[in-house]
Amino acid sequence: MALYNFMESCFHDAMKSLALLSQKGGSGKTTLAVHLAVAAADEGERVVIVDTDPQQSATVWGQARAAATPVVATAPAGDLDRVLAAARHDAMTLCIVDTAPHAAPDAARVARAADLVLVPCRPTAFDIASAGNALDIVRAANAKAVFVQSACPFRAPETAESRPVLEAFGLPVAPGTITDRRAFARAVASGRAVTEFEPDGKAADEIRQLWRWLREYLA
Ligand SMILES: Nc1ncnc2c1ncn2[C@@H]1O[C@H](COP(=O)(O)OP(=O)(O)O)[C@@H](O)[C@H]1O
Ligand SMILES: [Mg+2]
Repeated sequence: MALYNFMESCFHDAMKSLALLSQKGGSGKTTLAVHLAVAAADEGERVVIVDTDPQQSATVWGQARAAATPVVATAPAGDLDRVLAAARHDAMTLCIVDTAPHAAPDAARVARAADLVLVPCRPTAFDIASAGNALDIVRAANAKAVFVQSACPFRAPETAESRPVLEAFGLPVAPGTITDRRAFARAVASGRAVTEFEPDGKAADEIRQLWRWLREYLA
């Protein structure tokens, strides 16, 4: 029993949790959740995606997937503590939690449970305006959080222009941006990730860089 408790505490320390959160639908939460999961698994993490969105987009991706990893667990946000405990017990090293937009009580619960919250934001006025809502949730939960510029139109000046606006919210902004690229949508449609679909492509590079930056943050 002592050994079991010791191992449990090792697993506890070994698993990090990253939650995708934004109150805006379509900001790229699910796209980033599945892509980061595959990129992290490629670099040796044992990854579980917890899909708390009733729309179950990540779950559908997992079902379309030929590979058995990363594992996708579908569970309401209210079950998150139990699912995280089970993941630790299974010696997972990374848990990526995908969330629904417009789900204030659930979002708060997820933010409290996660080691790090990633808030994707497209470089548009409406998206940036709604970033404040996510910020309120992470602040109230006392959660560590960062922004990532998501689905940025290729070479559009809005991407660089909106970065200082996001920085002014007071959260770190991931140094790399995620560009709006067809490869992301195409890979997801076939249950894959860009690192599998076009491993040498620019989309794959962007995701790998984002994962490596987040890994430092989580450490
Ligand atoms: N970087 C990207 N490049 C291309 N399409 C993207 C990108 N990010 C998101 N999308 C597309 O935008 C839509 C919304 O993305 P999704 O990840 O489902 O957002 P959310 O989970 O926040 O609602 C989807 O059709 C998705 O394919
Ligand atoms: Mg989604």
